Formats: sequence, C-alpha cells, structure tokens
Amino acid sequence: MTTEQTTAYHTTESGIPVSSDEHSLTVGADGPILLHDHYLIEQIAAFNREMIPDRQPHAKGSGAFGRFEVTHDVSRYTCAKFLQPGARTEVVARFSTVAGEAGSPDTWRDPRGFALKFYTEDGNFDMVGNNTPVFFVRDPLKFQHFIHSQKRRVDNGLRDNDMQWDFWTLSPETAHQVTWLMGDRGIPASWRHMDGFSSHTYLWVNAAGERFWVKYHFKTDQGIKCLTQEQAGQLAGADADYHRRDLYTAIKRGEHPSWTLKMQIMPYEDAKTYRINPFDLTKVWPQGEYPLIEVGKLTLDRNPTDFHSQIEQVAFEPNNFVPGTGLSPDKMLLGRSFAYADAHRARLGVNYKQIPVNAPKCPVHGYTKGGAMRMRDAHDPAYVPNSKGGPAADRQRFPENAVWAADGEFVRAAYTLRPDDDDFSQAHALVNRVMDDAARDRLVSNIVGHVLQGVEEPVLSRVFEYWSKIDETIGARVKEGVLAERAGD
Ligand code: HEM
Repeated sequence: MTTEQTTAYHTTESGIPVSSDEHSLTVGADGPILLHDHYLIEQIAAFNREMIPDRQPHAKGSGAFGRFEVTHDVSRYTCAKFLQPGARTEVVARFSTVAGEAGSPDTWRDPRGFALKFYTEDGNFDMVGNNTPVFFVRDPLKFQHFIHSQKRRVDNGLRDNDMQWDFWTLSPETAHQVTWLMGDRGIPASWRHMDGFSSHTYLWVNAAGERFWVKYHFKTDQGIKCLTQEQAGQLAGADADYHRRDLYTAIKRGEHPSWTLKMQIMPYEDAKTYRINPFDLTKVWPQGEYPLIEVGKLTLDRNPTDFHSQIEQVAFEPNNFVPGTGLSPDKMLLGRSFAYADAHRARLGVNYKQIPVNAPKCPVHGYTKGGAMRMRDAHDPAYVPNSKGGPAADRQRFPENAVWAADGEFVRAAYTLRPDDDDFSQAHALVNRVMDDAARDRLVSNIVGHVLQGVEEPVLSRVFEYWSKIDETIGARVKEGVLAERAGD
C-alpha cells in the first residue's frame, strides 16, 4: 500500500468522499436500500465486471519485470538498437502452461510459455516462445484442432488422454515435441529452472542490409531442474500455484533469476540448400552446425504490483518486430503474426496497446482514433498524406528490408521435403543421444502412466506404432508396460 493510500480518505471512483465503510443508505435504520446510493451501486457493478476472458490457450501463468543487457557484439548480424553492445532495455516476462484454465495446477505435464516484451527505443519487440525448441505441428491450420485435442471434451467437460493421443498419433510431425513433453523436461521444477526458446526461425538484418536466419535460446543461469511425475502430481494437489509462488517469492527474497541469450545464426543463403527445412518448427538446427553465439543477459528483478493490470492484461504478439529483426517463411509464425493481435482485440479491446503494460516507452505518432477505452489523445490531421505537418514515414531511415523472396502458384501443400526431413529422426536422437538410461526409464514410465489413463483402441495400437517409429526399444517397452498393467487390472 502506498503512503498516499494509507493516509488518504476513501472515495468513490469519481473521487467523491465516502461517508461510511459499513452501511448502505437506507430509509431509516431498518428500512429498504436506496437506489441512488451511488457508492453501493458502484461497488456492485465494478465487482460484477472484474473478470475478463481468459487467454485461449496459455490461461494460467504469471510474470515479472526486469531488464535485458547486451554483453557481446552481434552488430555484424543485426542493427536492432536493443541488441547493440552495451544496450539495456526494460522487459516484462510471462510464463504459463498451455492447456489448463486460469486456476489449473502449475505442475501438470505441458509445455511452458516463455513470453517476453522488450520496450525498445524503436518500439516494442516481443518474443513469444516456449520452454522447448520445437512444436507439435508445422501448419497453422492444425493449431486450433491441436489445442482442442489437449483441452476439455465438449460433452462432459473432462480432459481426455485418448483425445490427446488420437491427435498426436494421427499427426506424425508431433513426434519430436511429444518426446520432449513425455521426458523430464515436460515438468520443470520452476519457471526459473527452464530455458526459453523462440522455437521459430526469425530474420535479422544488419546496417548494410545483409540478412541472417536466427533462433533465440534463453539459457537458464539457475540450471535446468525438473520434477518427477510423482512430485508434480503431489504438488498439483498441495499447491496449484507452485510455480507462480516460486517466482514471486524468489524475486521478493532478492534472488533475481537470469537467463543468458544465445543465438543460432544461419547465413541467408544457407537456408536454400540446407538438408533440413530450416523453417520447419518441428525441427532443431544441430548445434554442431550452427553453434550458440552469446548476446546478453535477461534478469527479472521486479514483481508485479497489480496482477490483473500488469500480467492478465499484458498482450504479447509475434508481429511486434523492430527494425533489424523480422519474420521468416515459417508458416506457423506467419499464422501467429495474425492470431495474437486478433486475440487481444477480442479479449482486451481495440485499444489494448494503450494499457500501460503494453504501451511502448518510446513516442507513438499514429493516425488511429476513437475506439472503446481510448487513453491516448488523437490529433488532427487524422489522415496521411497531409499538408499540415503530421508525421510521415521515413523510408530512408526505416527501409522495409526484413523480407525474403517467394514465388509460385497458390497451393495447399506441405513444405517441399529436403533430404533429412522426416518426422522421427530428431525424436530418435533425443531419446538416444540426449537421454541417459535413467531418463529413458522415466520416459517409458511417463508414457505408460499417461496412456493407462483412458487411451483405448484404435488409438492404443497407434500409440505403440508411433513410439516404435521413434525408437523400437522404447516402443516395445511402452507396449509391454501398458499391456502388463492392463492384464493386472
Ligand atoms: C498464447 C495462438 C503457436 C507460444 C496464445 C494465444 C493465442 C495463440 C490466440 C492467446 C493470446 C492471448 O490471448 O494473449 C497461437 C497460434 C499458433 C500458436 C494460432 C500457431 C499457429 C505457438 C507457438 C508458441 C506459442 C509455436 C511457442 C513457440 C505462446 C505463448 C502464449 C501463447 C507463450 C502466452 C503468451 C502470454 O503469456 O500472454 N497463442 N499460438 N504459441 N502462445 Fe501461441
């Protein structure tokens, strides 16, 4: 509470002093309540309108404020001002689960959102990533169906593992991300103990106009820590807000979590001939070929003071890219560049960018006007071009250069296959090169436990087939584990 609040007298939202914190206005002490008690009516009306729609998806989460400091020189790859040596930029971060509702347990097995807004001097730059370097699908047309399969059923409102595996096993491109999800990293110990990835490939442009394809990796400085299925299950009951509480109390104690930003950078021309489609979101670029290049440090050091206005109303969008950065031909990313702003208009209203947490910290000279809940005054002339001295685009300073060439017929088709483009090899490598024996044991046990909760034929046989395609031994162990448990029932 601010000193101003503790010493101040209570007022209505119109600033009119309130004469009682205890009693409504009535006709005599025992008589009826009067409709012209504006203070009472204001309390009832405000309360009835406190809730706004949840995000669809990523409803459960929390966040904090901090800064990003550039420690290494990457100016040969990008001219973005916030990525130049020594630059320091204010940031808001939000972490989340994907499928659960606003009150759902933080420790359910799910990918975690890792969303950042950088308030740069050239406008807001948003990186709306996850704690995994890949995703389940590679075409935005499948995203809505994928999310429906992970959320609740239409008929009884229950989560349904059969529905999840039905979608996954009919969509082989999910294999890599599902292997991540079912492994240890499917349940991080806290948001502080996980990495963040852009997952997508983005574009950087340097001062000379040269272009590079890039992937962002925010590596946790706290070290990776995960929960076992048993620990997570217990915590889901004991403290549904376990991760939210962990971040808040760590920052309050002065333990400020940080992440080191490292980039994978691919020369523009490499993308044309690389053996894997570098824009396919279900694939990683092997770090032996595109090693991590250090850029700077993200530190979170300030908790929100109003969860609703600063965290519920924060609006991230992958279409917020500043000069020196840009999108790529990743179809998912292009779909997302429409989806988020549309979601914000539906959830927060057309002027959502004027809510303080979303407002840029640099001057805004636009030509929009009106709309519900407008905060920033518009000015005449409200059109361009004009001869009245209004702001005009500066093409010399800000050329449209974060672009690429494309040509062809309009089609509905998968990406053209490259020599090493298949759905299972990177998942196979994750099982065999990244996991050790103990991690593989936990993988099998997590899959078996998940499948035993409601997965039936014909989906069940497809689950065995799916895992055999990823790795024959894991496939056989999953089948054996599920059938043995079912036989014992
Ligand atoms: C949230 C759509 C893929 C990360 C959301 C929201 C929508 C959405 C509508 C809710 C936004 C809001 O109301 O604030 C989509 C679509 C996708 C897609 C259409 C694919 C075509 C992805 C991918 C990632 C991702 C691939 C990660 C790499 C997130 C995160 C949030 C989010 C972190 C929560 C942001 C926050 O904390 O406010 N997504 N999404 N999404 N999405 Fe996606």
